[in-house]
Amino acid sequence: MELQGKRLVLGVTGGIAAYKAAELLRQMTREGASVQVVMSEAATRFVTPVTFQALSGQPVFTDQWDARMANNMAHIDLSRHADAIVVAPASADFLAKVAHGLADDLLSTLVLAREAPLLVAPAMNRQMWQNPATRRNVATLAGDGIVVIGPASGEQACGETGPGRMLEAVEILDELIAYFQPKSLAGKKVLLTAGPTFEAIDPVRGITNLSSGKMGYAIARAAREAGAQVTLVSGPVGLPCPAGVERLSVTSALEMHAAVFERIAEQAVFIAVAAVADYRPSQPFESKIKKTTQTLAPTIELVLNPDILGEVAALPQPPLCVGFAAESENLTAYAEEKRRRKRIPLIVGNLIADGFGGDHNTLRLFDDDGEHLLPPDSKRRLARQIVARIATLLEKRR
Ligand code: C5P
Repeated sequence: MELQGKRLVLGVTGGIAAYKAAELLRQMTREGASVQVVMSEAATRFVTPVTFQALSGQPVFTDQWDARMANNMAHIDLSRHADAIVVAPASADFLAKVAHGLADDLLSTLVLAREAPLLVAPAMNRQMWQNPATRRNVATLAGDGIVVIGPASGEQACGETGPGRMLEAVEILDELIAYFQPKSLAGKKVLLTAGPTFEAIDPVRGITNLSSGKMGYAIARAAREAGAQVTLVSGPVGLPCPAGVERLSVTSALEMHAAVFERIAEQAVFIAVAAVADYRPSQPFESKIKKTTQTLAPTIELVLNPDILGEVAALPQPPLCVGFAAESENLTAYAEEKRRRKRIPLIVGNLIADGFGGDHNTLRLFDDDGEHLLPPDSKRRLARQIVARIATLLEKRR
């Protein structure tokens, strides 16, 4: 229930993506929001107000002269207590109206009269999106502090492919939830490592592990949502870089080490989520190892990799360091031992069976206040809780 107690206005304008707004509304209410829907006249041609009325449990407004408002001021009353106005889909015409302060129907008037923040999810044909007039309007909106969510690129209802497709309901919901997150790391620099490392044996083979990178990426995203300036040093994973995060892609532990130390001086927080290979082949073969008929298999000599987190924590003035402990058993004992040995204020522990590779996890936080359980949840929500704890520890350090 991430929107519990939030009062939202959902504006729907005319476009085929209006059908996705019904799903968005459902998800908003499922997260605990109370939603007042306002539709443009054109929107009602695509989906009827009855659909939105049933899903929101509230009457839907379309008409500026609606007599249901006792004072005849629907444009003021409907958004007076709103925490945010979300317009999805936002047509090219609607964006143009908002950019120019036009108010010729209920939704545009309400938006002009708003006190609440405005988020818009554009949806239109790619030529309309790329038209210089729309580009100018979108730049104006951004300059006015309006949050523009999307659009995505891809197949469009008109049969063309390109930018202009409205994001899916779940993506818009995510952006909305992110918008409401407390800015507990505002202006702070945060560096993370995430994913596995790959230690070459020869040009095509190597030693790696099954770390998916999902937890590290989720924390990078949560830190960004909390207002931090985030750099993500990532081992080889197939995940998209979270919006607003700077990613440095690396392969081996040595490269990860170098990338971290290049940036570490200015950081307030260092979060080591990567599953760094403890050992690497001492001398990778220059060409591919051939299978021979000899019975003796080749021997690969391993050497120890640098402990990135350990070295950062040992700096004379280290950033706030956060480590991870993924263990098969005895989590508490191992995590506490790691915390003391590496002198890290916060260790996030999990049992490998609980979360490795998946989208959910169960975590335990270990810090000076003891052990704290974060019950099973999505990695995204767990990441927000970790960030909140980091912000508290940073505050305490001051
Ligand atoms: O000691 P152990 O490898 O179990 O510690 C795990 C923690 O240390 C994780 O936070 C991991 O990202 C970090 N680590 C590191 N460099 C290594 C090994 C682990 O930063 N070479």
